[in-house]
Amino acid sequence: MDNKLLENLNKQLNKEMYSAYLYFAMSNYFININMEGFAKVVRQQAKEELDHARKIYNYLVARNEQITLMPIDAPDTNWINPTDAIKNALSHEQFITSLFNELFELARNTKDYATEVFLQWFIEEQVEEEDKFRTLLEKMDNIDNCDCEIMHIDRNLKIDKEYVE
Ligand SMILES: [Fe+2]
Ligand SMILES: [Fe+2]
Repeated sequence: MDNKLLENLNKQLNKEMYSAYLYFAMSNYFININMEGFAKVVRQQAKEELDHARKIYNYLVARNEQITLMPIDAPDTNWINPTDAIKNALSHEQFITSLFNELFELARNTKDYATEVFLQWFIEEQVEEEDKFRTLLEKMDNIDNCDCEIMHIDRNLKIDKEYVE
């Protein structure tokens, strides 16, 4: 495998672990302000991020490539309200999408077709993740920060079967 591609895949493994950290931190934030529905959604997201890290790890093992584990950054947790936190989630996912696009381009340019195919799953997954947070944010933006409405959304998320921990 191309050196730069391998380096960036290892970095992406670290970024997926960081994403899990970010959503664990966010879950903690929502628990502390008694919003269990939002907490559930982002805790489930954390679990998915750990799966993404595992997918990349398994792929590098299967390719017999060197795995380099780096320290995981601590996320910034100074969200001022629920909308601010979910905005952070969306912008984080947009950033992650840009990283997968760069990885895909590098795989293509170095004619690493197996990696290109491997990355396709992540490219599709990013569309879903951005959509998930954008849809949630649109609901929250519409209500102009009325706390009672945010709590109503929280209650609905809590009973929403789509989000299981
Ligand atoms: Fe991810
Ligand atoms: Fe993600």
